[in-house]
Amino acid sequence: MKLTLRIWRQKDTDTAGRFVTYPVDNVSGDMSFLEMLDVLNEELTNRGEEPVAFEHDCREGICGSCGFLIDGVPHGPRRHTTTCQLHMRFFKDGDSLTLEPWRAKAFPVVRDLVVDRSAFDRIIQAGGYITAPTGSAPEAGTILVPKEAADTAMDAAACIGCGACVAACPNAAAMLFTAAKVTHLNALPQGQPERDARTLNMIAAMANEDLGSCTNHGECEAVCPKGIPLEFIAGLNRDLIGAAFRRRREPLAVVGAAQQPAHEDV
Ligand code: SF4
Ligand code: FES
Repeated sequence: MKLTLRIWRQKDTDTAGRFVTYPVDNVSGDMSFLEMLDVLNEELTNRGEEPVAFEHDCREGICGSCGFLIDGVPHGPRRHTTTCQLHMRFFKDGDSLTLEPWRAKAFPVVRDLVVDRSAFDRIIQAGGYITAPTGSAPEAGTILVPKEAADTAMDAAACIGCGACVAACPNAAAMLFTAAKVTHLNALPQGQPERDARTLNMIAAMANEDLGSCTNHGECEAVCPKGIPLEFIAGLNRDLIGAAFRRRREPLAVVGAAQQPAHEDV
């Protein structure tokens, strides 16, 4: 099949970007979206032009490094599918597609379709761990984990940190990501000793980035390739109120009351 791609090209963070249109021929339905871009990049390289920069690693929907907007939708039109797992058979011969990077102030464009998602790393650094000494593996069954807690933690741990939730949110909020990371540990017995500190510190770290706050649009859940549910945000808010009450800290002083959209104007 033949496609026309309108791709955002930007040399670096400080240089203005623009859309450039490229025709792509000989696209097989069995190719993944990234393999189709590999074909384009090979042609560009053969012509002596700069290939299109995009992030990828596992190409199996695990690492969370791929992802950009395809016709304005993070990861494209298939629900619960990362860009690397999106196959070209879901598009039609002659389609015109617009590809652009995540649009959020917290994720500055590094080059073309690549953005800097280190804001997520700083949120994780604030509490996405337990400090219990690891040592050798404990005796099986030493810590009993209720089935429901294990299931919730596993569902939350499915978050791959791709950033689609931020890109889709009109407020550029990272609540779904942060809720998944907090829930992953707060649901487990091993996460209880630092539960309150984790919740307060990760939300404070989130508030320190150029990220907005949740106003229940639900766009994050709609585009999340791992199906992280909105109810985790409700759980995060419950944990925040409890932690703030026990620590005698005012919740709104932690999370920030502003609901300003943080998307970049382009
Ligand atoms: S919550 Fe979903 S969309 Fe957001 S970073 Fe995690 S996997 Fe990606
Ligand atoms: S390349 Fe790893 S999730 Fe897409």
